Amino acid sequence: MDNRTNTIAGWVLGAAIVALGAGIVSSEFFRAERPEKMGYPIEGVVEDGDGGGAAAAVPIEALLASADLSAGEKAFAKCAACHSVQKGGANGIGPDLWGVVGDHIAEGRGGFAFSSALKAKGGTWTFQALDEWLTSPRKYAEGTKMTFAGIGKAEERANLIAWLNQQSDSPQPLPAVPAAPAEEAPAAEGAADAAAPADNAAAPADAAPAAETPAAAAQ
Ligand code: HEC
Repeated sequence: MDNRTNTIAGWVLGAAIVALGAGIVSSEFFRAERPEKMGYPIEGVVEDGDGGGAAAAVPIEALLASADLSAGEKAFAKCAACHSVQKGGANGIGPDLWGVVGDHIAEGRGGFAFSSALKAKGGTWTFQALDEWLTSPRKYAEGTKMTFAGIGKAEERANLIAWLNQQSDSPQPLPAVPAAPAEEAPAAEGAADAAAPADNAAAPADAAPAAETPAAAAQ
C-alpha cells in the first residue's frame, strides 16, 4: 500500500511539474509576444496624434488649401494676449503681426526687440516656416522670447496661418499641394504590412528542412 501511495504521489507530483512547466513556457511565450502586438497600435497613435506625423501624412499645403478662415480667426485668441494684428498696430509683448506672412523673419515690426535666437534664423516667413514655428516656437528657434508652447493640431495651424495671410496688404498665394507625399503614404503602409507576414513566415521556413529530410532518406 505504501508503495502504491508513493507511486500515485509520484504521478501527481510529476503531473504537477509538467503543468507548472507548461504554465511557465506558455507565460514566457505570451510575455514575449505581447510587446510586438502592442507595437502596432502605438505606431498608429503616433501617426494620428503627433503634429509632425500628421503633417507628413497630410502636407501643410493641402491643409492650407482647405483651411477654414473663421476657425483660424478663433484660433488667434491664443495669440491675442501678446499680438495685435492691425495695420500699424502697436507692439505688445510680441510684435504686431499685420502682413507677417511672407515678411522677413524678426525684422522691422516697428523696431520690435527680437531675440537673437529668432534674428539668427534669417529668411522670410513662408507658410512652411510658420507651420514649423507655431508647432513649437522653442524647437524652431531655441532661446526665443515667444513663450508659447505651440499648437499640436496641424489643421488648427493651417487655419490660423491661412487667416493670418489675409491680415495683410498683399496676401501671399497659397503654396501648391505636392502630389508625391500622397503616393508615398500607401507605399509606407504596404511596407509595414509586408513586415508582419515576414515574422510569421519564419515558422514555415523552419519546418521546410524537416520536410526535406524524409525525401533525402528515400533516395
Ligand atoms: C506669451 C506671448 C506670446 C504668445 C501667446 C504668442 N506670441 Fe508670437 N511672439 C511673442 C514674442 C515675444 C515674439 C518675439 C520672439 C523673439 O524675438 O524671439 C513673437 C514672435 C512671433 C512671430 C514672429 C514675428 C516676426 O516678425 O518675425 C510670429 C509670426 C508670431 N509670434 C506668431 C504668433 C502666433 C500666430 C501666436 C498664436 C498661436 C503667437 N505668436 C502667440 C509672444 C507671443
